[in-house]
Amino acid sequence: MDANTFFFFFSASIIFIAYSHENDHFLECNGTFNCGTIQGIGYPFWGSGRPLYCGHRGFELICQENQSPFINISSQRFRVLNISRTGTEMMTIAPVDIWEDPCPQHPYNVSLDHSLFDFAATNQNLTLFYDCPLEDDIPSQNRFMCNTSNGDSYAYYLDESSSRIHRSELEDCSTAIILPVNQRELDELWSGKEKIVDAWNKGFDVIYVKDMIPCMACRSSGGVCGSHNTSFEFICFCFDQPYSKSCLVPGMSASSLNISIHPFREA
Ligand SMILES: *[C@@H]1O[C@H](CO)[C@@H](O)[C@H](O)[C@H]1NC(C)=O
Ligand SMILES: *[C@@H]1O[C@H](CO)[C@@H](O)[C@H](O)[C@H]1NC(C)=O
Ligand SMILES: *[C@@H]1O[C@H](CO)[C@@H](O)[C@H](O)[C@H]1NC(C)=O
Ligand SMILES: *[C@@H]1O[C@H](CO)[C@@H](O)[C@H](O)[C@H]1NC(C)=O
Ligand SMILES: *[C@@H]1O[C@H](CO)[C@@H](O)[C@H](O)[C@H]1NC(C)=O
Ligand SMILES: *[C@@H]1O[C@H](CO)[C@@H](O)[C@H](O)[C@H]1NC(C)=O
Ligand SMILES: *[C@@H]1O[C@H](CO)[C@@H](O)[C@H](O)[C@H]1NC(C)=O
Ligand SMILES: *[C@@H]1O[C@H](CO)[C@@H](O)[C@H](O)[C@H]1NC(C)=O
Repeated sequence: MDANTFFFFFSASIIFIAYSHENDHFLECNGTFNCGTIQGIGYPFWGSGRPLYCGHRGFELICQENQSPFINISSQRFRVLNISRTGTEMMTIAPVDIWEDPCPQHPYNVSLDHSLFDFAATNQNLTLFYDCPLEDDIPSQNRFMCNTSNGDSYAYYLDESSSRIHRSELEDCSTAIILPVNQRELDELWSGKEKIVDAWNKGFDVIYVKDMIPCMACRSSGGVCGSHNTSFEFICFCFDQPYSKSCLVPGMSASSLNISIHPFREA
């Protein structure tokens, strides 16, 4: 074998290794996240068999016992109750503590990482007041009991306008938190069809904004969205190799591809 022939086989095998290795990511990231009622979920989510490079940091879903998965946002833990797959990048989440117990030991305000998530317009904020004395002026339907280490105490939930009205009575409560709740569930609550726990156990909606436009372009070129292992930048895994934006479609340069905003599709 002369040097040229050797070099040919040598470089061909490098290309083959690189090719099959990248092809692994293409196939691997085409696999979806499935846990309980949450099925068929792709980018930017990862976890349970979808490695980090198939999603984006901050979107890890933790599946336990095939129940609704968890997601951590700004060090707070949420149950993921629904992920919309109809074109709007929206999911429904509920803070774990409140979901498990309407009277959590250490109530806290929900905070989102606003570089990745935003509250959807379908929510309304409730204010929850804990550790309150009995207030006769506040309707009893807005009251519930909490059993704390100091014995039983009253808690109240009010929408923004009524918490302004009753501000002075509620000064004696020791803690207040703001809890976003789906507007539709609140309507059911005020009409008496639902209890407060039912309403907030249905969670609230957040929209996720990370790289969804590039991902749609990648998907419409036949690619699968992912991210770089170390820089965490967006990557489009394609049949031949990864690209920064979208796959090269024969007879079309990547930059001339039309970005069409069409319903969510698992490429
Ligand atoms: C990607 O997954 C979809 C279904 O989830 C499947 O129809 C398609 O063939 C897969 N693509 C590749 C290249 O494996
Ligand atoms: C998520 O947050 C909880 C509590 O805030 C923590 O115990 C857990 O380790 C976190 N999980 C991950 C994967 O970051
Ligand atoms: C999840 O969201 C979709 C669309 O947003 C909706 O059609 C579906 O009913 C929801 N599922 C649950 C269990 O709420
Ligand atoms: C609810 O409160 C949060 C801050 O706690 C705020 O960012 C959000 O816009 C409020 N939502 C509504 C519908 O007022
Ligand atoms: C409140 O909790 C204490 C112990 O934590 C228990 O002994 C008591 O029965 C509870 N009261 C109610 C009304 O649940
Ligand atoms: C939650 O936010 C409200 C309004 O910003 C604030 O008054 C309250 O003290 C906060 N509660 C906690 C537990 O941090
Ligand atoms: C990311 O890292 C994993 C494990 O270190 C490695 O197997 C994989 O090939 C890397 N993927 C990319 C896209 O660099
Ligand atoms: C992009 O869209 C425009 C108008 O919809 C069309 O005229 C053009 O041919 C498209 N280009 C490609 C490369 O598909």
